[in-house]
Amino acid sequence: MQIHRYANAQQAGQAAAILIGAQLLRKPDSVLGLATGSSPVPTYQQLIRMFRGGVLNFSAAIAFNLDEYCHLPEDHPCSYHHFMREKFFRYVNFAAGHTHIPNGNAEDLTAECARYDQKIIKAGGIDLQLLGIGRNGHIGFNEPSDQFVYGCHVVKLTQSTIQANRRFFDREEDVPREAVSLGVGSIMNAKSVLLIATGSDKAEAVRKAILEDIDPCTQASILRTHPNVIFLLDEAAASQL
Ligand code: F6R
Repeated sequence: MQIHRYANAQQAGQAAAILIGAQLLRKPDSVLGLATGSSPVPTYQQLIRMFRGGVLNFSAAIAFNLDEYCHLPEDHPCSYHHFMREKFFRYVNFAAGHTHIPNGNAEDLTAECARYDQKIIKAGGIDLQLLGIGRNGHIGFNEPSDQFVYGCHVVKLTQSTIQANRRFFDREEDVPREAVSLGVGSIMNAKSVLLIATGSDKAEAVRKAILEDIDPCTQASILRTHPNVIFLLDEAAASQL
């Protein structure tokens, strides 16, 4: 486990972009695991700059997103499909059909989860997984629980996550209550993991994940057993270490 501390979120995000860029240069057909939310935005901005500058090329890469809300239309401004298109995909050159996000509107969500896991396996597994962390220590939408769930599954979002994501929606009742998320097993199967945590509201989750027992109450704590995980933290998120 490596921990890198930065003065601010911008620097932490740029460090993640450098590591993702290096991964792509070493292996142009890398399978990237991607996240949504505020944490990876500076990383996507930097990757877009590197693409525009001719440094990076995504044409052979494949992307799998961690999660998507259930029962929210893909073109809804708060869907993760919309987020990824607007914050990243439309500005770089992934080949058609190379970007994947779970379908939270599938009629049979259990079958969708199995299909998504199979797709990742078929692509050769995730080379590099980018993660944020929830205030409650979640990764993907793997919420605090008495167990770690291995595969992609449907999750009931906790009140803490609904509150945290409320900022993107007009009203709290509009925040979806369920999501499809990659399981912790699939995240742990990634060859390398980068977790970005920025802001003081992540400090407690970061402390629990890094310093306290490995416990499904803080799902991110399992990352400490990963052979190749890097935590990229700003000072505020690292303030309880
Ligand atoms: C997003 C995801 C979540 C977020 C986490 C932090 O795809 O899987 O685990 O990474 O909720 O969200 P932000 O970055 O908005 O604080």
